[in-house]
Amino acid sequence: MCGIVGVLGTHEVAPLILESLKRLEYRGYDSAGIATVNNGTLDRRRAVGKLINLSDLLVHEPLTGKSGIGHTRWATHGAPTVTNAHPHRSGGVAVVHNGIIENFKALRAELAAAGLVHETGTDTETIAILTRLHLTQGMTPAKAAAATLARLEGAFALAFLFEGEDDLMIGARKGSPLAVGHGDGEMYLGSDAIALAPMTDRITYLEEGDWVVLTRAGAEIFDADGRRANRAVSRIRLDQTQVDKGGYRHFMAKEIAEQPAVLQAALAFHLDPSGQALSLPDEVDFSDCDRITLVACGTGFYAAQVAKYWFEQLARIQVETDIASEYRYRQPVLSDKAVAIFISQSGETADTLAALRHVRDQVARTIGVINVPTSSIARETDVALPILAGPEISVASTKGFTAQLLVLLLLALKAGQDRGTLSADQVKDHLATLASLPGLMRQALDRNEEIDKIARKLAEARDVLYLGRGMMYPLALEAALKLKEISYIHAEGYASGELKHGPIALIDKTMPVVVLAPRDALFEKTVSNMQEVMARQGQVLLISDPAGLEEAGEVWQSITLPTVPELIAPMIYAVPAQLLAYHAAMVRGTDVDQPRNLAKSVTVE
Ligand code: AGP
Repeated sequence: MCGIVGVLGTHEVAPLILESLKRLEYRGYDSAGIATVNNGTLDRRRAVGKLINLSDLLVHEPLTGKSGIGHTRWATHGAPTVTNAHPHRSGGVAVVHNGIIENFKALRAELAAAGLVHETGTDTETIAILTRLHLTQGMTPAKAAAATLARLEGAFALAFLFEGEDDLMIGARKGSPLAVGHGDGEMYLGSDAIALAPMTDRITYLEEGDWVVLTRAGAEIFDADGRRANRAVSRIRLDQTQVDKGGYRHFMAKEIAEQPAVLQAALAFHLDPSGQALSLPDEVDFSDCDRITLVACGTGFYAAQVAKYWFEQLARIQVETDIASEYRYRQPVLSDKAVAIFISQSGETADTLAALRHVRDQVARTIGVINVPTSSIARETDVALPILAGPEISVASTKGFTAQLLVLLLLALKAGQDRGTLSADQVKDHLATLASLPGLMRQALDRNEEIDKIARKLAEARDVLYLGRGMMYPLALEAALKLKEISYIHAEGYASGELKHGPIALIDKTMPVVVLAPRDALFEKTVSNMQEVMARQGQVLLISDPAGLEEAGEVWQSITLPTVPELIAPMIYAVPAQLLAYHAAMVRGTDVDQPRNLAKSVTVE
């Protein structure tokens, strides 16, 4: 995913654009660039790597102009080099792009046949060259851009600038989000409201297929059919603290610490004022549902795998889970009574959005479990339940994960209520258990110092194994993902019972084995697995409650969590998993919030 921003300003725009790009850096940081028009002259500056490099370049080679577009890149086509950095330019056209143009090779060939050659391997340069061709054919900039948009297949959010046009910017949205910002005598474009917050709180979210002609006087929006479209201007409330580190060293640390408050807010939102009954939209109805499908990517998929246990145990309903990138290609067997649930923090993950579009006309209902209410997946599901985690900036999802788990548990309770497998009293009892969740999360967070010390040992490992049974198995998968994506230590999650079917061959004294195991009905079996590991000099780090640690006896390292009801153990056991990864990454000196090769949301398939 990339971040784009555009400003038709009344002052020099380069500093404004840099500030907005800083807020978009979580979307990708392989390279960055800005183009401006100054008294008709189009110019640009680009730099590889983090935004600081572009900022340094602008100190030595300032860019003037009151109209500008900017971009921070997560590389799809072409390596992260200056040549491939956006804005791309052809003659008097500059463009920045978030997304992927699927027919760009055919367009390149067509343009080459017309004698228009590319300098780069990117799909975005093709957009600039094609638009320039339309200009040479006598079209106005707006018509040239529109003619280009009509030729593009795939996903894009675009912003165009034109030589000679100090008061013109064109934007377009198809498959990637784009918002228009309304200022006083100024107008803006941005990938999301966070980018525009320093300049305005008046936002218009473009609809799928919309394109817009901006001047400082305002916006002319056209729909996919080229008809004038009226889109609402809404005021966004973006608390400044939500996009600052709030005194923490990293966004990840802040977002881990926010989890009790986030879960409290989600409970308050999704329960009635008494806190003793669910308060979900009427469309969330499982009465006639014959099966549930849970689809997501990455951390969202591990949340889905935890939720499978809840739906099966509480609602006694058939559940399938799948990763979005596999789901639609395996020709899933669907039912017109099925409910399909799509889980996505960003709501823009291309694989998950594509899976939703693939099935939404073939199932009874689609539900989104989403953190960004204005996102594509939120808008395209029949009903979207917000997880209310607030902006999650760190690439590694933490509060997003536990908030997804909470909303999924509420959905499982609703399914049990609708299907009669849970009585009203039983639902009430489970909700009472949920009321203790924020406090128990705080107790888990209080282990931070102890976990930091243990993480220093973990950070020395080349490989780490995470084991869990029952709902702790998907937790083991998520814990392994956290460690590898921010510390770059290779880690794998495994069902404890599977160890003896192969992975135990890996065990030796250099292999830390992290076991996530509350003292529950499966604990004795897990102890046996731990003994198998220790008999082979494996280093067992047991994360359990006092009873479990007592029963397990001597282990290499341990983390003591409070004794928690089984129903909510996944949220609580996520905390040490997150903190272990965070502190290990700190020891390893990696870029915790923006790990190499990653982006916060992957809006390309
Ligand atoms: C999680 O820590 C990762 N950053 C990644 O797996 C992420 O969960 C995945 O890309 C899905 O993102 P989404 O929830 O925004 O759809």
